[in-house]
Amino acid sequence: MLSFRLKQFESFSMSIGSPLTPSATKVMLLGSGELGKEVIIALQRLGVEVIAVDRYENAPGHQVAHRAYTIDMTDAVALKALINQEKPHLIVPEIEALNTDALAEIEADGFTIIPTVKAVQLTMNREGIRRLAAEELKLPVSPYAFARSPVELQASIDGGQGKAGVGYPCFIKPTMSSSGKGQSRVTDVSQVQAAWDYAATGGRVNQGVVIVEGQIDFDYEITLLTVRAKNAADKIETYFCEPIGHVQKGGDYVESWQPQAMTANALKASQHIAKSITDALGGLGLFGVELFVKGDEVWFSEVSPRPHDTGMVTMCSQRLSEFELHARAILGLPVDVSMTNPGASAVIYGGIESKNLKYHGLQAALNIPCSEVRLFGKPQSFVKRRMGVALATGKDADEARSRAKLTASLVKPSAV
Ligand SMILES: Nc1ncnc2c1ncn2[C@@H]1O[C@H](COP(=O)(O)OP(=O)(O)OP(=O)(O)O)[C@@H](O)[C@H]1O
Ligand SMILES: [Mg+2]
Repeated sequence: MLSFRLKQFESFSMSIGSPLTPSATKVMLLGSGELGKEVIIALQRLGVEVIAVDRYENAPGHQVAHRAYTIDMTDAVALKALINQEKPHLIVPEIEALNTDALAEIEADGFTIIPTVKAVQLTMNREGIRRLAAEELKLPVSPYAFARSPVELQASIDGGQGKAGVGYPCFIKPTMSSSGKGQSRVTDVSQVQAAWDYAATGGRVNQGVVIVEGQIDFDYEITLLTVRAKNAADKIETYFCEPIGHVQKGGDYVESWQPQAMTANALKASQHIAKSITDALGGLGLFGVELFVKGDEVWFSEVSPRPHDTGMVTMCSQRLSEFELHARAILGLPVDVSMTNPGASAVIYGGIESKNLKYHGLQAALNIPCSEVRLFGKPQSFVKRRMGVALATGKDADEARSRAKLTASLVKPSAV
């Protein structure tokens, strides 16, 4: 099996084949939502053969790939069978809800997982990444504890027996969840049981364990897109995009912009944290490092070993979007992280439940200067499902933000 791995490496460092021929360079996306769709488009432009996998049919990425499959990616047997059938050169996880034990076996068989199986395993579980960041790398993080019962949870908040409690306000989150699912902000003892119950039902896999984090009273929060890519000397180098500021509601991003103004010290601390965590995760590709900032002080929050939703702004603000950077980096190609102009993104929610959604108001929306709209093409809408995003540029981030928000507000999804 080692020869297979070496063969793959050889083919990447020297060439890209032709899609749908025996020479094809094949990449499989595990998860094909709006972020995967853009990675697929970027790979297609480089002449890569792309296989899109998702849990439901006609997912956004399915609609632009060479081949599309619908499987349950938490099912080890189904996942391994598909990978062995397609034999992709690179496997690119786009979501966290994957059977990572199966991926570890697949990696041991000689397949390449982006960025590494270790990174995928550690970041899908808040316990893994938090212990790595805080306990091994000694990076600054919020006070935290893990609790396996409501009693343990209350004790972690209150403290006692010489141990400081996390205190109030605090955030209670399932260890396996994203987009704010199962997450609550708790301000006093009367809300703790409900937060436990919500975390137990809102998590991806009920692990019976939650993380409780003390609230960081930040001035603003950023995503620092960090790229591990090959440089001209064929060595892995770390590159940083300009910081992206964002606003979250209920744990889900609603607005982002680039650049976020920061002090020189805060930027330096952010880059240090991002370099430490991505070095520890390893591999090639783009990472979204989430950080909280107050003055010159910076705390690590979490990291995605893949393009980040708040990074959609780079589709209008950088020479290469985060998706193009990821595509290039994973193929071993050079990257350019330069920002071309300030930009912003604003989320377009479905607003209603429908399997037959139509988008009105696009003319008015696109009459906003320097605006763009991306509709993801999701076949089914929910009230709080992200169905599209508005992008806009401006002379500064503030102007871009108001344009993007206005553009998003003019897009009117409806069932008729
Ligand atoms: N300890 C904390 N202190 C202050 N704010 C917090 C804390 N934890 C979470 N938040 C707020 O909630 C948001 C979502 O938290 P977090 O990133 O942990 O959740 P998530 O479910 O992984 O969300 P996503 O997948 O969208 O990144 C943060 O971006 C921040 O605005
Ligand atoms: Mg987050």
